[in-house]
Amino acid sequence: MAQSTPVSTILVPEEALPPVAPDRPWLAPLAGFSDLPFRMLCRGYGAAVACTEMVSAKGLVYGGEGSWDLVRSTPRVPEDSPLVAQIFGAEVSFVREAVRRLLDLGARYFDLNAGCPVKKVVKTGAGAGLLEDSGRLAEILQAMVHLAGEGRVGVKIRSGWSGAEFVSGPAPARLEGIGLGWVTLHPRSAAQGLSGKANWSHLRVLRERIGVPLLASGDMYTAADGLACLDQGAADGIMYARGALSNPAVFRAHLRTLQGGGPGENEADQSERLEAARRHVSLCRHYADSRKNLLKMRTILPKYLKGFPGASAVRSRLVRVCSWDEVEALLGELAPDKAGQSGGAP
Ligand SMILES: Cc1cc2nc3c(=O)[nH]c(=O)nc-3n(C[C@H](O)[C@H](O)[C@H](O)COP(=O)(O)O)c2cc1C
Repeated sequence: MAQSTPVSTILVPEEALPPVAPDRPWLAPLAGFSDLPFRMLCRGYGAAVACTEMVSAKGLVYGGEGSWDLVRSTPRVPEDSPLVAQIFGAEVSFVREAVRRLLDLGARYFDLNAGCPVKKVVKTGAGAGLLEDSGRLAEILQAMVHLAGEGRVGVKIRSGWSGAEFVSGPAPARLEGIGLGWVTLHPRSAAQGLSGKANWSHLRVLRERIGVPLLASGDMYTAADGLACLDQGAADGIMYARGALSNPAVFRAHLRTLQGGGPGENEADQSERLEAARRHVSLCRHYADSRKNLLKMRTILPKYLKGFPGASAVRSRLVRVCSWDEVEALLGELAPDKAGQSGGAP
């Protein structure tokens, strides 16, 4: 556990975390996507809290630049707050040390990933592997709360490894009394990955066993989905994941609908998604102007352009772009009036 923390990585001073509530939608941790520009994009649309991509505790401790990149923020961006750094790891010593180093850099809120079903992660006992060892899970969370403070640590779980055995068994009781600020349930089994449907009824099962504020994640593709889940009354708040990837303005739609916005205000139209695509490109240019991020944008933009007339031609040209100017020019070809002429935006 030698190695120092790269000085290029400095996290922001934190705003207080708001209470978990229906009108405080979170941006979910999204490996490969919830980086600084995307978080800023979603915050601009009303995300109340944003999570980093999951990052390995061991990777942080060994000082890998790649790991630190995943939790990178900057003091020049105090608006990237409140920020929850999501960690995965199965060894309490590494998680403790990772949290300690992140705290030194100004991070204040932490989430433990206990839901990732990816083999490489699970075989180390981390991610959803922790669902099979609730004693270790509780031990790691206790260590995190001890360092970060009560209410500053959460955990993201699945319903169980192959079914709902975690939420419906004795395990949730072990999460009580630790001082957790939130628990997020993605109500699928780990074995399901992202297939099939999320079973929101598991939220109520967990709710009956635990008094910690509960966030729901799973099948929140639109604001209508998020609000329908909240209407069921089992979760205190929700987080958007794939819904935000295809339409970052889902947060605005969520808030507007809660404030009484009429029908039509809660779903993405093409002009809204095009606006998001442009904002995203501009935030990348501003905060993360690198060739790596330009290449990454080639895979991100198609998510916004689904269903656009001419999108497949734009997609095939996107894979060849070499500059941000070219990306912007391509998006210019999808101007709302043109999309509108082809039956797209109003
Ligand atoms: C591309 C992608 C990356 C993800 N990365 C993470 C991650 O780093 N940590 C995590 O806890 N969950 C991760 N998830 C799971 C999401 O946070 C969320 O729980 C899941 O997608 C279910 O929500 P949804 O059906 O509304 O998308 C990821 C999901 C996707 C699609």
